[in-house]
Order: sequence, then structure tokens, then C-alpha cells
Amino acid sequence: MYDHDVLVIGAGLAGMRAAIAAHQQGADVAIMSKVHPVRSHSNAAQGGINAALTDRGDSWEDHAFDTVKGSDWLGDQDAIEVMCQEAGDELIALEHMGVIFNRDGGGHLGTRAFGGQRRARTFFVADITGQALLEAMYDQLMRWEVRSYEEWFCLELIVAEGRCAGCVALEVRSGTLAVIRAKAVVVATGGLGRAFEPTTNALICTGDGMALAYRAGAALMDMEMVQYHPTTLKGSGILITEGARGEGAYLLNKDGDRFMECYAPSMMELASRDVTSRAEQTEIDAGRGVDGCVMLDCRHLGERLIKERLSQIHEIGLDLAEVDITKEPIPVRPGMHYQMGGIKTDVEGRCWDPQGRWQGVEGLFAAGEAACVSVHGGNRLGANSLLDTVVFGRRAGQAAVDYSQSTGPADLKETYYLAQAKERLAQMLERNSSEDSVARLRLEMGKAMDQGLGVFRDQQGMEAALSRVLEVKDRYQRVPVRDKGRMFNTALIFALELGFMLDCAETIVRSALERKESRGAHFRRDYPQRNDSEWLKHVLLDAALEVPRVAYLPVTITRWPPEKRVY
Ligand code: FUM
Repeated sequence: MYDHDVLVIGAGLAGMRAAIAAHQQGADVAIMSKVHPVRSHSNAAQGGINAALTDRGDSWEDHAFDTVKGSDWLGDQDAIEVMCQEAGDELIALEHMGVIFNRDGGGHLGTRAFGGQRRARTFFVADITGQALLEAMYDQLMRWEVRSYEEWFCLELIVAEGRCAGCVALEVRSGTLAVIRAKAVVVATGGLGRAFEPTTNALICTGDGMALAYRAGAALMDMEMVQYHPTTLKGSGILITEGARGEGAYLLNKDGDRFMECYAPSMMELASRDVTSRAEQTEIDAGRGVDGCVMLDCRHLGERLIKERLSQIHEIGLDLAEVDITKEPIPVRPGMHYQMGGIKTDVEGRCWDPQGRWQGVEGLFAAGEAACVSVHGGNRLGANSLLDTVVFGRRAGQAAVDYSQSTGPADLKETYYLAQAKERLAQMLERNSSEDSVARLRLEMGKAMDQGLGVFRDQQGMEAALSRVLEVKDRYQRVPVRDKGRMFNTALIFALELGFMLDCAETIVRSALERKESRGAHFRRDYPQRNDSEWLKHVLLDAALEVPRVAYLPVTITRWPPEKRVY
């Protein structure tokens, strides 16, 4: 058995930031990731990180208001205040860790505009911001020799003595099972994008942490809020950064019109993502699209700017669409990008409420996309996700250390947990008899989610998605794992991941069916209006025997009461 004060599961930006904070407080902390840390999906975050710096004439209150409005008033305003107030210090901390942000002409940190915000407050490293942050943080962890369980897959969170006490994990390389005991556990495993098809998310974004926490007894909140990014590449669904529109690129329909004029006349292409994606889909549905897409036109930005600030999407265009964005518009469409909901936490990352107002697991913390501290509500602003990871990653790491100092290690029967896990894996490996494959089931689930839970939703479409997800869940019980070996059994990993995605998919559809209004990314054609009198509240689900249990929590409003939302 391995032992630590704090175990961080997931080594993207939120996880690494949590580990850095825990190490700095003197704790014995370890990180665990199913991939090498710098291959985490945070490295796909292209555009930047938001912060309102007072010496630029900006204010955290303005940033917070833009975030509240972006969230369509579903974000908890106490959490949004924390995030926006702490943004500047986090940005500087990142610089001190070695991130080389782009500069303006005067040599100061440069900014670009991003959607849904009235000022340019997005700091960036060309269009590889996430990658730059990840590498700087991983350097820090290596410098301090923080224990890193790389290519270890978490199978189960252990709940013992009334709290989360560690996990059972599989070392992918050797196929060895192990118990890792910890006084506090931080889940920072990122999103669940692969439950949809297509998505901008990497193959590894399979909702592991959300499902692990849900199975352990934590509540998932706001799961119906799924962000469709307005510019994903035709076909592959790869992200084409909002930074392009931030630098001034246009969206055009088949007639060459900048159609955003009709939907968001003051913010145009930089309206919030939900508004922009709906506008695009409306154009496409009305026959004004181009082969199921609209066109993103960067030509007027000029070759020099494109190659300096948007070099990655320039390459993506050439390699994956045979389009040179310096010379021609590129076809894009709304595509699944981000899960606003997740494991319900407070602003310290705690997944339980000492006052018992919501269902949770003591000793468990969460941060980043896996978590729902509720700063994004119904719609996340671009470049607030990196900010969320570092602010709430740090807070969760610090709070986990505080908690670990108040408790001792749980008395765990290692052999019991290992035997159970071994038996479960053996059962999966023994199956031979089905025509189905993990890949086919994932595709069916993903397509059903895209069709029923996309930019526009209604009762019938969501019910159809639910019955498909439940049917796939049933077939999943019998799906064979074709590789029967122990070492690097990626077929087994894909099967386990599919189980996590199916749990997440079910909670998304059930939460969406619950919310009978339109708000943020959850736009129902059968309930097209926002309804604050009945639905200014969060939907929470926790696991129960047959169907998940539904609960509600009020939205925290501190200083910005709901208003009409126009861009
Ligand atoms: O468009 C982008 O660069 C994505 C950024 C984000 O999701 O925050």
C-alpha cells in the first residue's frame, strides 16, 4: 500500500496547481494520471487565461459581471467573486513559474479580446496557452521531486470511516493493482467530452473523476449545461480557437454576410459562446450554411499576425482541412467543448457540506472541469476555464492539506480492496460472447448525445437520447474486452472509460429533462424562455439504486440580480 497526506488524481492544470499548493504547504502530496502529465487535455486550451488587472484600468467587478452574465445568472456569485478577485495574483504566479506570455508593443503582458467580455483581458501564449502553463507547472513538480504516478488508472475511490481515504488504481504498464491511501483526495480529472461525438476533447476526456465521485456518493451539479464551442473544424471537430475571433476574424454565411449582426449587434462574433453557437446553427438550419458549416474568415488579419499569434490553427487548417487560413475562409460548426457542471464543491474545493445541505463525501476535494464550484453556470466565458483551474486548483490543494492535518490515515484492509478490484476486472476480461464492441457503443452513445443534447433541445429528443443511453448501458454489461493480457491493456482501459462516460451521459440527460426552461447552453425549443421564478436554482443528482436522486440548491446571488441578457 502506498501512503500520502494528499493524493491528487488528474495531472492537468487543476491537478498540478493543487499539488504545487499542497507541496508548498509542506504536505506529502502525490499526483496520479492515466497519461503523462504534459499530455493532459489542458494542453489543448489554445486561446488564453482571463484576469482583470487594475493597472490596465480593468476591475475584478467588471470581469465578475461579465462572468455572471455569461453564465445566464446560474453561476454562484460568491464563487465568481473569488475567481475574479484572485485572477491577477494567479497570473503573476504563473509568470514566476516560467510561463512566457505574449507581450504588447511596450513590453508589458499583452491581452486579446475574448467572447462575452467588454474588455480585452485574456492573457495568452500565442495559441498554445494551456501547453505553456502545463509545462511550467510540471517543471515545478519535477524540481521538488513530487511523487508522480504516471500512467496509472484510477478504478475506484475508497470511502472508509465515513470519508474518502484513497483509491484503488491500476498501473497501466504492468497491469498491477494497488491501493493508494491518503488523508485527503483531490479529483482533477477534467471533462467528459468523449461522451459526445464529435467533440473538441481529447480521447482521454472520459469523465472518470465525475463518475468516480458520483459512485462514491458525491452529487453532480448543473450537468445539463454542456458548452458547444462556435468554431470547431468541419469533420474532425477539432478546436479552432476563439482567439481567432478575438484577433478580429469574421463569421460568414453562404452569402458572405456577417450574420452575427442579426443576433448580437453590439458584440458580433464576440458574443457569448451559447449565443454564437445558436446563431450559427440557426443559419445552417435555415439553409444559409455551407455544407453543414459556416465560414470563419481570418484573411484580413494578415499572414504575419496569423503566423505569430494563431500558428497552431494555421497548421490545423493546412493539415486537417487543406485550408490555408491566410488565403481562404475555413468551415466551422458548433461542437461539444466543455462541461459546465460536475462534482459539486464549495469554494475550497470540498465535495461535502458540513451543514448537510447537499449530498457529499468528506475528505474528497475537486477542481477544474471535473468540479462544479459554479463559476460558469449556464455558459462559460472563453479563457475562464484556465483561470478556474489555477484558482480553484490552488484552493483545493490548500484546503486538502488543512483537512489532512486534522485526521489520521484510515484503517484500510488492502487485501479486501485488491481482491474486489481483481474480481471486477476478471469478470470484464472473461466476456467473449457479444457482437458489440466498446468502440461501437461509445459511438452510439456519443451520437445520441450530440443529437439530443446539442445546441437546441426538446423533450422528445432528450427522451430519445436517454433511452439510447440506457440501452447502451445495458449492452455495456456484456461487452467483451478483446485483449485479455495484463500489460498495457488499452482495450480494458477503454472499456472502463466507457462505463464512466455512460454514468456521466445519463446524469446529463436526466438533469436536462429536469430543467424546464431555457438558460445558457440549455436551450429548449419547447420552453424557449428563461424562467427565473421557477428555475433560478441548480439541479443536483446523486447515485441511487434505480434512478439517480434529484435535488435542488438555490443560486447564490451577491450583488448582480438577474437581468435580461443581450449582446
Ligand atoms: O477557443 C479557445 O481557445 C478555447 C478556450 C477556452 O475554452 O477557454
